[in-house]
Amino acid sequence: MEPREQPIGVFDSGLGGISVLRACVALLPQENFLFFGDSANAPYGEKSLDQVRRLTVAAADRLLAQHVKAIVVACNTATSAAIGLLRQTHPELPIIGIEPAVKPAAQAVGSSSVIVMATPLTIREDKYQKLAAAFCHEANVISLPCKGLAEMVEQGIFDGPVLDAYLQELLLPFRYCNVDYIVLGCTHYPFVRQAIARNFGRPVSIIDGSEGTARQLRRQLEKAGLLTTRTSQGTVTFQNSRPDKLAMSQTLFLMKY
Ligand code: DGL
Repeated sequence: MEPREQPIGVFDSGLGGISVLRACVALLPQENFLFFGDSANAPYGEKSLDQVRRLTVAAADRLLAQHVKAIVVACNTATSAAIGLLRQTHPELPIIGIEPAVKPAAQAVGSSSVIVMATPLTIREDKYQKLAAAFCHEANVISLPCKGLAEMVEQGIFDGPVLDAYLQELLLPFRYCNVDYIVLGCTHYPFVRQAIARNFGRPVSIIDGSEGTARQLRRQLEKAGLLTTRTSQGTVTFQNSRPDKLAMSQTLFLMKY
């Protein structure tokens, strides 16, 4: 098969990256996509850097064995831990990562506050610390590690009292700060966007990086001459290291949020 007609591999620690996959499919509907969720090893955000590096390399190898023409690392945690390593190992391959959308939020609000919700590992990593530091003169960037939240999404908890109690405790300290934006810095969080908005208790704009990542994917494919020439609708195939998660993958792909 011609390289440009091969599928695009999209990968996450679990189901969260489906929020990015949706944006990619919306922007590039003629492409074929292969999504791999590593739910057996989720959450990555509470593992060590070395563990996440190893798992990310294994996931990329799995996609490459299926002849993908590009890889989207639809996971902020895996991006911050391993994107450099992946690019070093596969210099010829378009590899697109995702990082918390701090820039658009900070530049939009001037001097008030932006909360960045992400996994503990993303927040700890150098890549994020540098990103937050780069915009701390434009806005008050509050970094909020959300231990356990991606796991709730993995378990299919999108609503209800357990999630509400978790979010209220997490967000309460910021209720009286001058917060204009919440940045969803983990690809699992868009699936609980409504619960986050409700439990914050005040109007706030909530953004994530999925559309920016999809645009970056299109730019990279264009540059490499790898956009498909097909004119009909492409396919989306789901794979997961926990086969019992495949039905939920379809549900999340179609879910409104
Ligand atoms: N979805 C991943 C992210 O964007 C992380 C979830 C996890 O901890 O596995 O960071």
